[in-house]
Amino acid sequence: MRDAPTRPSVLEATAPPANAADPTEPALQRVDAVIRERLASRVVLIDQISSYIIGAGGKRIRPRLVLLFCEALGFDGPEQYELAAIVEFIHTATLLHDDVVDESSLRRGRATANAMFGNAASVLVGDFLYSRAFQMMVAVNRMRVLEVLADATNVIAEGEVLQLMNIHDPDLAVSDYLQVIRYKTAKLFEASARLGAVLAGAPPALEEACAGYGRSLGTAFQLVDDLLDYEGNSDELGKNVGDDLREGKPTLPLLIAMARATAPERALIRHAIEHGEVDKLPAILAIVKGTGALDATRAAALKEAHDARLALAALPASRAREALLDLCVRLMHRSS
Ligand code: IPE
Ligand code: IPE
Ligand code: MG
Ligand code: MG
Repeated sequence: MRDAPTRPSVLEATAPPANAADPTEPALQRVDAVIRERLASRVVLIDQISSYIIGAGGKRIRPRLVLLFCEALGFDGPEQYELAAIVEFIHTATLLHDDVVDESSLRRGRATANAMFGNAASVLVGDFLYSRAFQMMVAVNRMRVLEVLADATNVIAEGEVLQLMNIHDPDLAVSDYLQVIRYKTAKLFEASARLGAVLAGAPPALEEACAGYGRSLGTAFQLVDDLLDYEGNSDELGKNVGDDLREGKPTLPLLIAMARATAPERALIRHAIEHGEVDKLPAILAIVKGTGALDATRAAALKEAHDARLALAALPASRAREALLDLCVRLMHRSS
């Protein structure tokens, strides 16, 4: 976990990649139209809150995965837009719930829905989005699609509960931390990638390669997220940095720093995890940087992103495959 990958890699370039044309852009506009149409509810407060969070934007990574895997495997049909909207609804529902659980106040550069409308309304609208996603899945009428998304939604919930159980625990094992991020984040990336393969009727080995790409990229993505919570910038991220420390979340930067720090430094970090002391952020940031824990976290993310790129060897060469390769690089350089 601590060793940087030795092979030179496009992933390790210091500058973010130049803006390549994104083949999914027109398709994403269709997805946004589906999203707007399917958000509709008779209940005014639902309309208000769901438009508030969805209208704030977001990177739309998970819908992009559905669309790119469909294109890479030769599927083109209306179901891809429905499934892309469905994964974004599930993602948005998890964000509404997550911000309540994490008591976060900033998301996508705006006050969180819980800060604006309260916890109860956020949780209930999250439920609306989950159940709307399931109505849409039923309309797609494919048992495999239902199976993949029902499993993913269930695993995400397990991940969030596992994380809750790990909070304030400075003795958390790295393997338990990794299990949480695979469940809470990588699972939906995995499902999004897999759905492209399912729609295209890909043979099992190819479907597994697509799922593996999503799993590795999702893991890399959350590792970078946990890194940005220490070294990122709130304005660019659209979320408050330091949230993880305030919540007492033992993420990889802290776990590695504790393993490498001096005894007094270790005691400081342990205490901050146990009590959620965000006022210790500058001191802890110095230790995290000084021990090389941020670099080691980035190295772990790069290793996962590298695995994601390797998984794409199973796909035929195409513009979509290039975009999926490129996405790995882009997400490792992200600041938002
Ligand atoms: C945020 O996901 C939640 C995590 C898994 C870290 P994104 O960073 O994809 O959120 P948006 O949709 O772009 O806001
Ligand atoms: C996000 O975890 C995972 C889910 C929303 C399921 P985090 O709590 O780390 O994400 P942010 O930092 O709030 O986006
Ligand atoms: Mg959170
Ligand atoms: Mg986070």
